[in-house]
Parts: sequence; structure tokens; C-alpha cells
Amino acid sequence: MNGNMEKFVLDISRTPESITYISRKTNAQYSKHLSEDWHGGDRFKTILMNAISFLLPSGEKLLIDVINNNLKNINDEKLLRECKWFIRQEVNHSAEHIRYNNSLCDSRGYDYEKLQLESHINRNSYKVVKRALGEQYCLAMTACIEHLNSIAGELMLTDKRWFSGMPIEMIDFWEWHSIEEIEHKAVCFDVYLSIYGERELLHKVMRYSAQQLGHTILSIACNMYQMEGHPKEEIETWITQSEFMAGENGILKTIERKISPFYDFNFHPWDNDNSELLAKFTT
Ligand SMILES: [Fe+2]
Ligand SMILES: [Fe+2]
Repeated sequence: MNGNMEKFVLDISRTPESITYISRKTNAQYSKHLSEDWHGGDRFKTILMNAISFLLPSGEKLLIDVINNNLKNINDEKLLRECKWFIRQEVNHSAEHIRYNNSLCDSRGYDYEKLQLESHINRNSYKVVKRALGEQYCLAMTACIEHLNSIAGELMLTDKRWFSGMPIEMIDFWEWHSIEEIEHKAVCFDVYLSIYGERELLHKVMRYSAQQLGHTILSIACNMYQMEGHPKEEIETWITQSEFMAGENGILKTIERKISPFYDFNFHPWDNDNSELLAKFTT
């Protein structure tokens, strides 16, 4: 363990006390929509959201594996409780997205295994990354991925472009995941700082993770589109050049702007206090 630990031990969990450690199950009846272009009839937006879902279980497995492996390094009881709650939420997310993805592949005729293989999705990325880059790198990755997830969650709950045209069952489903991503957004970040207490690697990993996540989602979307018999260049062009995705106020630039405070050396995820937003959706 890093020698800086004592320095950070008093400043270990900054998730607000108002956040309760709840892990919800979703009852959203979304399956009936999966065979359709359920995002208001827009095939590109539908495939983009489906691609995000397809990536989630492998990412969630990495997060769970890393945090599980680091429980022994956490001294703060509040943070330890948060880690266990975080794992419960991610286990639920992963199970539900696996159900979603299986049903998606069945109804749209995608070959699950082939889609994973061709999109370079690895279900054992913790082992692979740990072997190549070490434990600190893995934990930095979890902090970065979780920050990106919470940004996406916040956008889904606040930016009407995400949900407009979606059936209510899909809105319920994506809202459920978004709420919990915002609730536990600082857990991995606090674990990383409490153990390693330095930010340079964290910043480096964020640059890489944001890029890598974008590439993987693009790759899954292209493969899905191709499996439906269309030239992948069409969806590639939409993602990289459309106003909705790549315009000045498009999804990609908005995410980029929301990431930038992360590079401040005093940054903490709860500097952006979403308590009111959460209260709106959970009470
Ligand atoms: Fe999740
Ligand atoms: Fe998460």
C-alpha cells in the first residue's frame, strides 16, 4: 500500500450523507421494443444505445472485480459500506444488461459471441489489464470509467435529446441505471485516492479511457449495423459527423466539456452536486 495513505485517511469518502445505500431492481418492460428501432424510429440512435448496453456488462465486471480486490485496502468504514453497496448496484446492472443484450441479439439476429469478438470485448479485462499495467492502473480505470458513466447518466436525466422519442418502458430502464450511476459516482474515485493519493496517472488514464470507450462503442455500433446488412460507413459517418453527435452542442462535445474539470488537481465528483436531481427522480 502507498505511503501517502495516512495523509488521505481523514478525507476518504465524500459521498453526501443524504445518499442512501439502496440497490433497486428494475421492473421496466422494455423487451417488447428491442426488435424495433425503438428510439423514435431512429435506427442510428437505437443502435447507439444498444451498443452502450452491449458494452456495459464487461465494463461492470471489471469495476466489480477491481473493487472487490481492493476491499482489504480500505480502512474507512463509510467507504467500505459504499463499496459493498456499489458492488450490489453494479451486479444488478450487469445482470439486467445481460438480459437486455440476450434479448436484443435474439430479436435483431445478432450473433452474441461474434459481436463480442469483433468488437474486442474482453470479459476478463481485469486480469489482462492488471498483468500488463498493474493494480494502480486498474483502480484508476475504475475511477475514470465511473466518472464517464455518471456524466452519461446525468446527460440522460437532464438533456431531452437522449430520451425524446423513446417509449416509456425504455425511459424507465435507462433512468434506473442513470440514477444509480450518479449516486455511486464517487466511490471508485475515493477508493483510488485513499490508496494511491495521486492524480497524474488518473489524468493520463482518463484521456485513454474516454477515447477507448468511444472507440469500442463505435465499433459495436458498426458491427451491429453491418449484421443488419448495412454498410458500416453509414453509422460511422453519423457518429463522427452528425450535428446530434459531433456538432458544437452535440453529445460528444458536451461530454468532452463535462470531463474537463476532472483534470483539476482538487477535483472531486461531488463538486458537481446532483442531490437535487436525484431527489427529483427518487422521491
Ligand atoms: Fe452500472
Ligand atoms: Fe457505476
